[in-house]
Amino acid sequence: MSYKDKIDLTRLPRHIAVIMDGNGRWAKARGKNRIFGHTNGVRAVRETAEACAELGVEYLTVYAFSTENWSRPEREVNALMSLLVKTIDKEIDTLLKNDIRLGMIGDMSALPKSVADKLRHAIETTAHCKRMQLTLALSYSGKAELERAIKLIAKDVLNGSLIPEDITQELIEQYLYTYGMPDPELLIRTSGEQRLSNFLLWQMAYAEFYFTDVMWPDFDREELYKAVYDFQHRERRFGKTSEQLAVS
Ligand code: FPP
Repeated sequence: MSYKDKIDLTRLPRHIAVIMDGNGRWAKARGKNRIFGHTNGVRAVRETAEACAELGVEYLTVYAFSTENWSRPEREVNALMSLLVKTIDKEIDTLLKNDIRLGMIGDMSALPKSVADKLRHAIETTAHCKRMQLTLALSYSGKAELERAIKLIAKDVLNGSLIPEDITQELIEQYLYTYGMPDPELLIRTSGEQRLSNFLLWQMAYAEFYFTDVMWPDFDREELYKAVYDFQHRERRFGKTSEQLAVS
């Protein structure tokens, strides 16, 4: 029996975030270079996105390239960037067919022009799609996102459009890349590592963490269903007690 049949479709996480880890180790175990791992990771992105959309998950955010990843060997960075361009080109029809909107969080200005242009085009072309939003975190880091938000808020205080008393959690959220998106309720990280790695630091305040030893290129629909099933068996207390949850 597939985990899919055990999932309660009325209690899905609205937003799933994924740290796709293990491409390099997966490739090494097969005597191949790291880029082979990333290339095989694309299938897992496609399968996870389709499975989420079919279930009814509204937002899927995948950590595709962190600001820290810029310090990887130049050859790997270039290969990842050209893989992105190729993948966006190739998958745009699949996105449209599945009614999936593409989004991006991170520093677009740090990306090579070819990647930024393709992304902008794909984001515009799929902007009308309603079923799910697939967001790529690219040149992204949680601390950099908060630094950017704080600078923007400081500028607005200086130019008089805000006063310090206006700065609430709701206002801060308006200055984040994720403005308008619900916070992730489930974070999945593959490859056995159990870290947040600077991903969505603010937004992950109440996320449930799910770690699996599966390497990202081996992640598939069934693994996604397993993670959602696991999520549905967590008690999410948001600071309350179990007894309080039972009466509400
Ligand atoms: C982490 O594995 C993976 C990445 C830094 C890149 C993820 C990119 C893809 C899956 C391909 C393209 C993505 C999209 C959205 C089209 P790692 O290299 O850190 O693996 P390791 O920890 O085993 O070395």
